[in-house]
Amino acid sequence: MVEAQLVGLDPRVEAFLQGGPKKLFIGGDFVESVSGKTFDSVNPANAEVITAVYEADKEDVDRAVEAAERAFYGDWAKVTPSERGRLLWKLADLMDDHLEALAQLESLDNGKPVAHARAVDIPLAIDHFRYYAGWATKISGELIDSSAGRSMLTYTRREPVGVVGQIIPWNFPILMSAWKLGAALATGNAVILKTAEQTPLSALYLAGLIQQAGFPDGVVNIISGFGPTAGAAIVTHPRIRKVAFTGSTEVGKLIMQQASGNLKRVSLELGGKSPNIIFPDADFSKAIPGALMGIFFNQGQVCTAGSRLFVHKKVYDNVVADMTSHAAKMKLGPGLDESTDIGPLVSAEQFSRVSGYLHKGVEEGATPTTGGRPLEHPGYFVPPTIFTDVSDQMTIAREEIFGPVVVALPFDDEAQIADVIRRANNTEYGLAAGVWTTDVRKAHKVAHALEAGTVWVNCYNALDASVPFGGYKQSGFGREMGSAALELYTQVKAVWVNLD
Ligand code: NAI
Ligand code: MG
Repeated sequence: MVEAQLVGLDPRVEAFLQGGPKKLFIGGDFVESVSGKTFDSVNPANAEVITAVYEADKEDVDRAVEAAERAFYGDWAKVTPSERGRLLWKLADLMDDHLEALAQLESLDNGKPVAHARAVDIPLAIDHFRYYAGWATKISGELIDSSAGRSMLTYTRREPVGVVGQIIPWNFPILMSAWKLGAALATGNAVILKTAEQTPLSALYLAGLIQQAGFPDGVVNIISGFGPTAGAAIVTHPRIRKVAFTGSTEVGKLIMQQASGNLKRVSLELGGKSPNIIFPDADFSKAIPGALMGIFFNQGQVCTAGSRLFVHKKVYDNVVADMTSHAAKMKLGPGLDESTDIGPLVSAEQFSRVSGYLHKGVEEGATPTTGGRPLEHPGYFVPPTIFTDVSDQMTIAREEIFGPVVVALPFDDEAQIADVIRRANNTEYGLAAGVWTTDVRKAHKVAHALEAGTVWVNCYNALDASVPFGGYKQSGFGREMGSAALELYTQVKAVWVNLD
């Protein structure tokens, strides 16, 4: 790794990090936790503490629920759909003004390249709020001509669910906050959002913008804390009516069980081991960079990461050689260095988890063509790694690694494609998949046969606020984004009016 040239910190980031532990955002105010406890948020590029934050636990969740209920039945209920839309749009405008500060804070706390946060994470989050600002005035029920005939007026209303809990991971803190808040607020719910303990900072900065935008107190509450304490308190709370979760499949299962106490509505966006299939007739000028970005973007810490790369045997050697030479040239460095391609992993825990998989891969007989070993350097750096000599049964070909590690698996179907599809679908996950071919018939045939909530053809990791996103099988259920997300945050009421 060469000497880093870090960007000068935006004065707004410096100001944000001054003045002691960052507070929780509850009832429109920044407050200390009831216990007074704090925990540290760490810079993964050098393992140094950035700042402490107050740690929420059950009592703080109780306080947030009180505030959210007060808002939901009070001031928020009086806000018109048009005004809800204006508030969301205002928030998006404020985020635009604070784009650089948000991007730097995201990079500092998560480790991701600031150039990516600036070009991808924050703009997508801003777009997301603008998209749902538009929906606020378009939530409506229907008029039904029932079999009762003219004597009965029957219609439906789409009403908010109430106080909802949202638990997000650390890989895209601001973007995940936007995915969760956008649809929930457009439809009139009040929210308690818990960030991941590894990355609490940018959402607390966002809380300041939410306050400034003028949302009534208590409509949005943002708390920092750990899963088994603050997270579990949300999931088990008797007056929270819905929980939306993004994170590991393991915790997703736990949440589904624990949410049964008051029959919370549950939506889960979980892990993946997504197949990315390169056919010999692919346009390689697109497929190679697409496959590289598909696995290495965000250090591979992406739920849709194209981590099982199926390459036709006719082109396998060339594709692997090409990808290897590109991957070997990627620049590892701190996220705050403008020229960084690959930043550190988010935490010591992820570093040891991913390092463990590298070790396991070699132990099981796979060969890294590049990378393969974590860096001996302060911070949590793992180089981009491509494994060959992999069988479908190996641990690294089955389990979600959540790091910059791809397994390249040859396949040899000729005319028919059944075998590679069977192998691609042979997983308990089903979040996403990629297909690279210039044959339009093959593209659609494969897209239809893949068991995944998203299939990308001749592209990868494309996302837009208007397009539904979510999993098949154990990658979860419920769809965020697009009009589909409105269903997660509304319930249908049927009204019967006897006109006789
Ligand atoms: P995790 O699933 O434990 O954490 C995600 C969120 O859930 C965090 O906010 C955490 O505080 C919360 N949480 C944890 N336990 C909870 C509980 N019992 N009740 C309520 N909330 C709880 O993920 P972790 O441990 O950070 O990462 C482990 C693995 O999970 C990764 O290596 C990766 O494979 C996967 N993962 C997948 C993500 C995705 O986007 N689908 C995001 C993050 C992790
Ligand atoms: Mg965990």
